[in-house]
Amino acid sequence: MDNPLDKLPPLLKQGLDKNLCVCNQVPKMVVINAIVNGANTVAEIQQQTCATDGTGCCRREVERLIECLCSD
Ligand code: FES
Repeated sequence: MDNPLDKLPPLLKQGLDKNLCVCNQVPKMVVINAIVNGANTVAEIQQQTCATDGTGCCRREVERLIECLCSD
């Protein structure tokens, strides 16, 4: 099975175990797993992981991950 991380540019592969969402302490890998398992909108990511559910400051990065991981 393909490694979904292969779809990410090098910059986005960094800090996978660090919090992507600092407001709610959600590690980047948790967000990536949610996307890989079918969440393909920011709203779904927020429901499933609570990421973006703070001041929304990480929203752009979540969108970027969705773009990369959901592209063919
Ligand atoms: S870092 Fe995610 S909402 Fe602020």
